[in-house]
Amino acid sequence: MVALLENPLRVGLQQSRIPEPQIMIIFGASGDLTQRKLVPAIYQMKLERKLPPELTIVGVSRSDWSHDYFREQMREGVEEFGGGIGQEEIWRDFAKGLFYCSGDIDNPESYQKLKAFLSELDEQRGTRGNRVFYLSVAPRFFGEAAQQLGFAGMLTDPNKHRLVIEKPFGRDLASAQILNQVVRQVCKEEQIYRIDHYLGKETVQNLLVFRFANAIFEPLWNRQYVDHVQITVAETVGLEGRAGYYETSGALRDMVQNHLMQLFCLTAMEPPNSLDADSIRNEKVKVVQATRLANLDDLDLCAVRGQYTAGWMNGKPVPGYRQEKGADPNSTTPTYAALKLQIDNWRWKGVPFYLRTGKRMPKKVTEIAIQFKEVPYMMFQSAAKQVNRNVLAMRIQPNEGISMRFEVKTPGSSLRTRSVEMDFRYDAAFGQANADAYSRLLIDCMLGDPTLFTRGDEVEASWRVLTPVLEVWDAPAPPEVIPLYEAGTWEPVEAELLLNRDGRRWRRL
Ligand code: BG6
Repeated sequence: MVALLENPLRVGLQQSRIPEPQIMIIFGASGDLTQRKLVPAIYQMKLERKLPPELTIVGVSRSDWSHDYFREQMREGVEEFGGGIGQEEIWRDFAKGLFYCSGDIDNPESYQKLKAFLSELDEQRGTRGNRVFYLSVAPRFFGEAAQQLGFAGMLTDPNKHRLVIEKPFGRDLASAQILNQVVRQVCKEEQIYRIDHYLGKETVQNLLVFRFANAIFEPLWNRQYVDHVQITVAETVGLEGRAGYYETSGALRDMVQNHLMQLFCLTAMEPPNSLDADSIRNEKVKVVQATRLANLDDLDLCAVRGQYTAGWMNGKPVPGYRQEKGADPNSTTPTYAALKLQIDNWRWKGVPFYLRTGKRMPKKVTEIAIQFKEVPYMMFQSAAKQVNRNVLAMRIQPNEGISMRFEVKTPGSSLRTRSVEMDFRYDAAFGQANADAYSRLLIDCMLGDPTLFTRGDEVEASWRVLTPVLEVWDAPAPPEVIPLYEAGTWEPVEAELLLNRDGRRWRRL
C-alpha cells in the first residue's frame, strides 16, 4: 500500500542521493532564520546521514563573531528550535564544519576576504570548489549581494556555484524584473534557487501526486464540476518582533505572492509532461499567466485587506498590530488579505479561486478546499435542513490529510440527509513526522535540483497578478482605510462580503 502511494516526486528527485562535498555560505548568519531554521534543518539531515562528511557551513554577517561563538549560537538554535543535538559525537563532528567570516554586504573587500577563506577551506575540508551561497539577508540587499559575488568571480561555474535567494523576491512586478536582470547578469537562471519554503512541505508536494496519480479526481477538476476553490493560510502568530520587515511588506508580499500563489498554482495547473523541473515549472507559469483579479474595474469587489486589533489568543490578551513594538501607530499595513481570482483558460473559466491569509486568526490552519457544484436536480430538499455541497479539503498543516464531504441518509424510517466526512490523515497512515520543509529544499539545492524552487518568469507572473492591488494598498492613506478584525477572530466583515456577494461563505475551519 505504502509502496503504491510512494511520492513520484521524491523518487524523481533522487531523494536518496548524497550531495557532493560543498560549502554552504549563509549571508545573514546572525539573523533569526539561520539560527531557527536553516542550521537546525541542515543538522537534522546530518542526523539522518543525508550529508557528505565534508559539508561545511560558513556564516557571514557584519557582527564581529568568532568561529566558536558562531558554533555556540547554532547549537542553541538546534537545541531550541530544531530536533535537539542527539548524539554529542555527531554534533562535534558537525560543529567542526561550522565557520564564521565577518563582512559587509556592500564592501568588495569583504568578498575578496571570503573568497580567500573559502579556498583555504577547500584545501582543509575537501569541498572541491562547490558552493551554495544562501542570501538570508533583508530583501533590499539581494541584488547587491548577488552582484558583489558575481564581481568577485564567485559565481562563474554553473556546475559548482549556486545562489539561493529568500523571499520576497522583489516588492512588485517592476522591482522583481530588475532583480531578475541584476542576478542574471552574474549567473545563469539554472544557478538561481528562489526559495519558498511552502514548496518543501510534504503535503504541498503531495498535491501533484493526489491530482495526477489518481484517476477519480482529475475528471472532476474543472469548470464542469467545481463551483469554486478556497485557499486559506491562517496563522495564530502576530508580528513576532519583525516590525522592521513586516511594515514594509504586509500580508500580500509576505504570504500571498509566494506561499498562497504556490498552493494556487499546484491546484490549478495542467498536468505536466513529466516530473522534470522545467515541465512542472512551465505549467505553473502558464496558469499564473492566465490568472487575473476577478474585477479589475472595481478592486473592492475582489481584494480585501485587514489588520488585527487587540484581542485574546488562548485566554491571554494580545496587543493590536499598531501597538506591536516597532509598528507605526497609524500603520495601514495589512495583516490579512483576501482575493478573488479568475483563470482565463478552458479548464477554469468562470470558477472563482478565493485566497485568504491572516495573522492572529483563531487557528493555525492551511487548507485548499475544492467546493463542487450542486447536483443538477435535488430531490431531497425537504429531507435536509440544509443541503451541503461536496467538498474535497486538502489540509496542508497541521493534521495533514485529505477529507471528502458528502451527503448520507441518517438512520431511521424517515428520509433525512446529513453531511459526513471521509477522512484520510497522514500521521495515521504513515505514522511518521513529515520532514522539515527547509531540510527538503536545502538538500535539493545541494543536489542541484531546482524543481521545488521558483523560476524567474513565475515570480514575475505572480507579481503581475497582484500589482493592481499593491498600487492601491501602498498609496498613502488615513488609518481608517483598513478594515479591522479583533485578534483571535476570523476575517473582517468586508472579507465575508467578498463571498456573500457571490452567494458563498468562507469555510469555518
Ligand atoms: C514566512 C512568513 O514566509 O512564513 C511568516 O514570512 C509566516 O510571516 C511564515 O509566519 C509561515 O510559515 P509556516 O510554515 O509556519 O506556515
